[in-house]
Amino acid sequence: MIDLTPPRDTLDPIETASRDEIGALQLERLKWSLNHAYANVPFYRARFDAAGVHPDDLTSLTDLAKFPLTAKSDLRDNYPFGLFAVPRERILRLHASSGTTGKPTVVGYTARDIETWATVVARSIRASGGKAGDIIHVAYGYGLFTGGLGAHYGAEKLGCTVVPVSGGMTERQVTLIEDFKPSVIMVTPSYMLSILDAYRAAGLDPAQSPLKVGIFGAEPWTNAMRAEIEQAFNMHAVDIYGLSEVIGPGVANECVESKDGLHIWEDHFYPEIIDPETGAPVAEGELGELVFTTLTKEGMPIIRYRTRDLTRLLPGTARSMRRMEKVTGRSDDMIILRGVNVFPTQIEEQLLKCRGLAPHFQIELTREGRMDALTVHCEHLGEASSSEASAKEFAHHIKSVVGITARIVVHDPEGVARSQGKAQRVVDNRPKG
Ligand code: DLL
Repeated sequence: MIDLTPPRDTLDPIETASRDEIGALQLERLKWSLNHAYANVPFYRARFDAAGVHPDDLTSLTDLAKFPLTAKSDLRDNYPFGLFAVPRERILRLHASSGTTGKPTVVGYTARDIETWATVVARSIRASGGKAGDIIHVAYGYGLFTGGLGAHYGAEKLGCTVVPVSGGMTERQVTLIEDFKPSVIMVTPSYMLSILDAYRAAGLDPAQSPLKVGIFGAEPWTNAMRAEIEQAFNMHAVDIYGLSEVIGPGVANECVESKDGLHIWEDHFYPEIIDPETGAPVAEGELGELVFTTLTKEGMPIIRYRTRDLTRLLPGTARSMRRMEKVTGRSDDMIILRGVNVFPTQIEEQLLKCRGLAPHFQIELTREGRMDALTVHCEHLGEASSSEASAKEFAHHIKSVVGITARIVVHDPEGVARSQGKAQRVVDNRPKG
């Protein structure tokens, strides 16, 4: 793979600033953000008052831990516009998450917020190896989801030619990649696998595609999946993280030269890791739940938002900003099977060891008698006769590494449900209640 490391002098100065400089900027901005939320959002004023804290109580970054946490339910309770900190007329854009249950969560952006967002996504694309003049194929969904438009504005800001394809019509995705010759693709990793299938189905060699880098996120994916995609397309696969409540994609991104976790754009988003049970900050480098406070957002500042994503904070490497380890799962996605905690990414890792199986999978939970059972649905690569042996091998890997007994069902190609955006990894068919 070619070296795509961006020249040092093309980076934003803050990306290579000293920790002292970053800390000073964060403290100044954090004070502003707390005051902005307290003065303009009745919800935060009530929460801070109830907890007996005031923005003036923050004199160092660690004081942030005195302030109350915010959860997704707080956004739902204030649906639709209750957390906005500016008059609605100053909000130029809304996004919303569909949410599997209940009301969606709504977020709003001022003109300055949209500019900030474009800046951090442009920085993310540059960290991934993209540069002005590149053609970028955006296959994240456009609409209320932040993926498509977030990627789009960042790519334009960097000076790229954007192809706003959105998700779906997979054969056409292949045609457009072959005809327009983008060097960068932005898409969920699971949908990239569908594009890979479509390449092969069209009789094309994906390793000969014009793509040099893929910027994959919006769902958990493993280093095993990275290796699979990099090898198939002969391209770099880089991780992008974000969430709508904080801004959208572009909260953190890997650097193509190190691929060692995601640098958090700490001049705009302040990270903490807490113990998900107690809410207390964990020791430096420990695994826990990621919490974010926005430092510059006007339209909808968010204070100590519980992401439910599990990771740890690590010191900077390719940039001065701290890194977060690749997110292996959300606390919401954790399956507890007969006392063993399992994340879908652990199943993905074992699947990718099985050469006779395709990388698509879905986990089904059922109840048999009083016991929960886990079935992994996967696909063979076209050789139905090898299915039994592959299933045995897969079940063996899961048993010996993850520690659970899984039933494996090997379907024909296309037998596992595909998504054009985020994959649904777990289907829970256990009786409710
Ligand atoms: O998924 C924003 C996004 C779009 C990120 C495109 C990256 C690329 P939401 O729909 O609000 O926003 O979902 C946010 O998705 O809390 C994580 O659980 C998960 N997620 C996002 N990026 C990653 C990633 C967008 N790189 C939720 N790795 C987050 C693992 C991710 N999980």
